Amino acid sequence: MDIASEMDMQAGLSFLDYNAPLFIAWQINTECNLGCLHCCEEAGHSMSDEMDKDEVFNFLRQIVELKIPYVALSGGEPLLHPLFFEICEFLKSSNISLKVETNGEFIDHEIAKRIAGLRFRSVQISLDGANASTHERLRLAGDWNKAVAACRFLVKEDVNTEIVFVPTRFNIHEVGELIDLAYSLGAYGVYTGKVMRIGRAAKNWGILCPSDKEYEKFFAVLKRKMDEYKERMKVYYYPYDVIEELKYRLEYPSASALILPNGKVKLIGPLPFVCGDLKKQTLEEIWKNYKEAWQNTKVIEFAKRVIAEPKLLAESNKWVEIY
Ligand SMILES: C[S@@+](CC[C@H](N)C(=O)[O-])C[C@H]1O[C@@H](n2cnc3c(N)ncnc32)[C@H](O)[C@@H]1O
Ligand code: SF4
Repeated sequence: MDIASEMDMQAGLSFLDYNAPLFIAWQINTECNLGCLHCCEEAGHSMSDEMDKDEVFNFLRQIVELKIPYVALSGGEPLLHPLFFEICEFLKSSNISLKVETNGEFIDHEIAKRIAGLRFRSVQISLDGANASTHERLRLAGDWNKAVAACRFLVKEDVNTEIVFVPTRFNIHEVGELIDLAYSLGAYGVYTGKVMRIGRAAKNWGILCPSDKEYEKFFAVLKRKMDEYKERMKVYYYPYDVIEELKYRLEYPSASALILPNGKVKLIGPLPFVCGDLKKQTLEEIWKNYKEAWQNTKVIEFAKRVIAEPKLLAESNKWVEIY
């Protein structure tokens, strides 16, 4: 469950009650130094039509004007974006809460210090194994030692550091050790949940998807570890898969917006629908489209087909415009 949904539930509100999203999940690029087998974004190379500097700053100004409280920057690898620090500085100078999701490989002592100065809400580092060989088997071209070193640099600078672990058949058995490692690194928390059948994960589903039995053990370990670290470190897991999430969202859409590097705005990760384009429309206009899109028969019918036939999740990155 994303942060916008948690805020909605606490306030007893629906997404329709808001004039703007509560939360922006912004994939600022698709460029990446890794080629993870499970990558939901199929990241690697840049898109040819990514937003330019003027478009990026036009969007940033709208985030501030609409008083959106919380933004998460992701990618691709966000630290490879030439405007990464300028974007962060702009958001932080406007008092917007900011989370960054990264593979950690570009965070050395200097970068950790720069990040610390920006006082992010959190930095999430992906660690998909308790040792180098497991992590690097999934995160092709990845360097586990660099990701672990990034955690150390950040913790040393007092940055709220969270570790994200995505379970697959390769690494699911290591979740307990991974949590112990996170604690020894001084992480603030560990976050995990089921791998989503989207992007490269959909293509590699046959070799990646853990069995029901493996998931059963995984969740049992998580429950135990949650208890063990109760007073010392946050261990959080989302128990639902992407199909269960989609069923829920059809009834209770989230008050959030998912922004792609080229300014297109996706309705939700698992569906192909795009409900606006920041190069042509304001965020306010797109938010209206977003609200209408959840009532659109084409969306509802396709979502129901996906729920009945999860293989269709593989279509989620083939965008369909509905605005
Ligand atoms: C798309 S990545 C982008 C940020 C950065 N490159 C990284 O790997 O952390 C954001 C997060 O999504 C996770 N992720 C990627 N594909 C996924 C999938 N199919 N299911 C669940 N999580 C996934 C990654 O492991 C990472 O924690
Ligand atoms: S999961 Fe992150 S690091 Fe891996 S390929 Fe995707 S964007 Fe790159």
